[in-house]
Amino acid sequence: MADESWRLPNSVQQLAANMQEPPSQYLLREQELLGANLAGAEMPEPVPTIDLGLLSASNDPEEAAKLRSALQTWGFFQVSNHGMETSMMDSVMTASREFFHLPLEEKKKCSNLIDGKHFQVEGYGNDHVRTQDQRLDWSDRLHLTVEPEGGRNLAHWPTHPKSFRDDLHEYALKCKKIKGDILRAMAKILKLDEDCLVNQFNSNAPTFARFNHFPPCPRPDLVLGIKPHADFPALTVLLMDRDVAGLQYLRDGTWYNVPAACDHTLLINIGLTMEIMINGIFTGPVHRVVTNADKERISVAMFYGVDPDHEIGPIAHLLRDEQPARYRKMKAKDLLVAQLEHFSQDRGAQIADACKI
Ligand code: OGA
Ligand code: NI
Repeated sequence: MADESWRLPNSVQQLAANMQEPPSQYLLREQELLGANLAGAEMPEPVPTIDLGLLSASNDPEEAAKLRSALQTWGFFQVSNHGMETSMMDSVMTASREFFHLPLEEKKKCSNLIDGKHFQVEGYGNDHVRTQDQRLDWSDRLHLTVEPEGGRNLAHWPTHPKSFRDDLHEYALKCKKIKGDILRAMAKILKLDEDCLVNQFNSNAPTFARFNHFPPCPRPDLVLGIKPHADFPALTVLLMDRDVAGLQYLRDGTWYNVPAACDHTLLINIGLTMEIMINGIFTGPVHRVVTNADKERISVAMFYGVDPDHEIGPIAHLLRDEQPARYRKMKAKDLLVAQLEHFSQDRGAQIADACKI
């Protein structure tokens, strides 16, 4: 039988422990490295920070203008005064770190491989390896369905550390409130009914938590933690490592570094699903994660998607004669299949164009 071991790469944590040259599957190709500067550029201004409490309580015009400008310029921003206790944010980060530091055998109890070989999205492990020449990310991750609550598969939810499940449950409740506040503020900016965007998410709308672990990498000049991509769901709420940076956003051909999280803010970006719903008025920013030679990095992303059976298309109220629909209508589940294919072929940044009319 043909050797198919390439389908089941070692955990990045194991590779990092050996500190050898990363296997070729992880190395950027020559043409990708031409003129590439993985070090990234410093942002010309601080990350836009929105006072979410002020914005949602009083629709403060200054905060609303900041939000509009951030979405237009960058597609991402950070929120302060978001209502989540700092202790909760610290607990989720600590529980995530403890999970990734468990022995591999323990983490494999949450594996994303059925019978040790058949890939599914949910669980602990790597990306789906579809082809032998696919470039892999220097990160291990735990991917969990958090909502709808009935869709939780607890078999993949860690039992160590002991607080993990409760922490995630509580964190998800708070994040959901933050998501609602942001969607209402965005709807107002777009002159839609306040609940128009919130109402795109019915009781079947999925929320995924993705815990990312980026172990130190011996070749940060040749290896990416996560390939360039735009997030697929509508909105991402990101809890970032407070000590180690790594996230970069692409704007006008330049990759900009996002500094490590400070002051217990949360980083927000919109995704492809939102871009389509709002007819590209704001776009889902392309981003990637670079690696660090000495330090590990951890991040926790909450992704808010719409019901897989929901047809995603530009919201009718945003269309005018002079502003016709720019994206095709597509079921969310079909769009997801297209996105996963793009991502594994290193075309994660091009999916939005593929959806345009
Ligand atoms: C992601 C992602 C960014 C980060 O998980 O989709 O882009 O900072 N993560 O880890
Ligand atoms: Ni992302």
